[in-house]
Amino acid sequence: MHIFLTGGAGYIGSVTTECLLDAGHKVTVFDSLELGHRAAIDPRATFIQGDLLVREAVREAMASVRPDAVMHFAAYALVGESMENPLKYFRNNVTGGIHLVEAMEATGVKKFIFSSTCATYGYPDRIPMTEDLPQNPVNPYGESKLMFERILLWAQERIGIQPVFLRYFNACGASERYGEDHNPETHLIPLIVFVAQGRRDHIKIFGTDYDTPDGTCIRDYIHIVDLAQAHILAVTGDHTGAFNLGNGNGYSVQEVIEVAREVTGHPIPAQVAERRPGDPDRLVAAADKARRVLGWQPQHPDLKTIITDAWRWHQAYPEGYAN
Ligand code: UFG
Repeated sequence: MHIFLTGGAGYIGSVTTECLLDAGHKVTVFDSLELGHRAAIDPRATFIQGDLLVREAVREAMASVRPDAVMHFAAYALVGESMENPLKYFRNNVTGGIHLVEAMEATGVKKFIFSSTCATYGYPDRIPMTEDLPQNPVNPYGESKLMFERILLWAQERIGIQPVFLRYFNACGASERYGEDHNPETHLIPLIVFVAQGRRDHIKIFGTDYDTPDGTCIRDYIHIVDLAQAHILAVTGDHTGAFNLGNGNGYSVQEVIEVAREVTGHPIPAQVAERRPGDPDRLVAAADKARRVLGWQPQHPDLKTIITDAWRWHQAYPEGYAN
């Protein structure tokens, strides 16, 4: 298939581009390079630099390649920043997405694989989290993703778009070549790796008074290559609807730090800090639907493998994509 992939210079988009190409598909990456890296785009892909907010640019790009399907990764994704600047999130994550659907309608493309998030659920009613839980986001980031899910449902009903919502839990790890390079970095695993590399003094643990066995937040960490494979299954099959993508295993912040100490052989000093606003105690996926319907089988569910791969990538590329 030929996939029009937005955000292919970003973390999840770059690894998915690589996996699609490895599987024999063709990829056109559409990315503004505002946050992504040119070096993160697999050289086997066609690259069109452009901004989703420029309606005509999206339409022209899509018309020029006439893809079979769209995968939409490009978005702002920092929960904290979305609380400070909500309109920035709605403009980019909603308006940019609308331009993409308009371009699909003009070109006659139907399949839309959307990078959604467990943040659309807000504080979950129950754990593990199934796709039918109420969606009550507690930050503008999650709200922007939910709004766009709803827009896609109307686009399905009224203009025949076939959307798949992939609701990611915590993406982490790396492929051999592509990994996580955000600026600023806010995610737990890369920050822990920076401490092991001596680039930071310590890792802050945001709160030890949560309702969990060790008091630190529990998350479901999913290997980036497994996440990418779920996209390939979603686009090549005849699917629509929502799928949670996680391993179904929760690890606390404290447990992640301990596994990282073991993997890296470094002490990784940690300091207890204030809670970060908006962090639910636990977010753990019930990923049975993705396994059953998509036939998804995560190959790297073990946290030790995930952290080993993140560590290996950051050791191989200590400056990220800068070099
Ligand atoms: N944490 C720390 N110290 C840090 C960084 C993070 O203790 O320096 C904690 C957080 O409080 C949280 C856990 O580690 O409990 C994981 O935090 P991340 O920032 O790595 O990931 P989040 O779970 O906050 O966010 C991820 C994605 C978001 C998505 C969200 C859904 O990055 O895009 O899951 O809740 F919206």
